[in-house]
Amino acid sequence: MSPSAQTQVQADLERLLPLLESRYLLPFASGEAANLAEAMTYSLKAGGKRIRPVLCMLAAESVGADAESALGCAVALEYIHTYSLIHDDLPAMDDDDLRRGKPTCHIVFGEGQAILAGDGLLTEAFTFLAGDPALPPSRRVEALRVLGEAAGWQGMVGGQSLDLEGEQRTRSGEPVSLAQLQVIHRLKTGALLRASLELGAIAGNAGPEARAALRDAGAAMGLAFQIKDDLLDATATEAAMGKRVGKDQGKGKITYPLLLGLTGAQNALREATERALCLLQSLPNPQSLIQLATYLAERSA
Ligand code: IPE
Ligand code: IPE
Ligand code: MG
Ligand code: MG
Ligand code: MG
Repeated sequence: MSPSAQTQVQADLERLLPLLESRYLLPFASGEAANLAEAMTYSLKAGGKRIRPVLCMLAAESVGADAESALGCAVALEYIHTYSLIHDDLPAMDDDDLRRGKPTCHIVFGEGQAILAGDGLLTEAFTFLAGDPALPPSRRVEALRVLGEAAGWQGMVGGQSLDLEGEQRTRSGEPVSLAQLQVIHRLKTGALLRASLELGAIAGNAGPEARAALRDAGAAMGLAFQIKDDLLDATATEAAMGKRVGKDQGKGKITYPLLLGLTGAQNALREATERALCLLQSLPNPQSLIQLATYLAERSA
């Protein structure tokens, strides 16, 4: 990645993250369940790359709209994503004790409160977006539908279910095909990245062609993102990632490096990223998205 592209990604993050930060903690500022609010804000504030909200705002800009038009969608995406991480880390799922450089939500608040913190963030995503004054009602309903489909059983939740089933299958020595792995990755991670770009298109009032290009580019970026996550689990350090690494193989997770080896996984990552870049070229103002997609494929954390 050229130094100027890296500077562009940095500049976009510096410009867009304060927008997210101006809004995303507001719903939890008051309320009777104070301990639950603390658990939700603990996980939200712990950090993270904020890729989904940034992609959403850049997608709106790529079709000529303001980032602010997509801010409600961006906040909702980060709530859903953070909830998915809290639940993903539970002992019944990936059983992790470190996330975003901090002890996981269930380690600090206990399993019951962590389950509820996830539930609270999930439902708040829809409450928040339903009340977003930046979107006219018809586009708001459409955004809610797209988000619900991507987050739910036909999207992320379904993928997480297949991920757990796959783990059991590899442990009992059953073979798993690349086609099955692609479905898991398309659902567990691809769906929410696809929705990130599609919600940006809806917020930006994109026409059908630009919306389809953003949606398809998001799907390709989502696959690339999870392949890269699989590769980093095998190659990166805990300090760089802020989460435990090297666990996928021991747990029997079905991953790209497991099925294709490190080089095969790198090639699949490159192919998916190139597909995304190609789709993005057709948009009126795609430069920031192109640079972010390139950065995500090359990231070391
Ligand atoms: C981690 O997502 C889970 C996956 C889908 C691979 P991120 O890598 O976006 O996690 P944060 O938000 O930066 O912590
Ligand atoms: C998680 O995939 C996907 C989610 C929907 C949360 P992983 O289980 O590989 O994510 P990490 O590696 O724990 O962040
Ligand atoms: Mg997992
Ligand atoms: Mg995990
Ligand atoms: Mg992982």
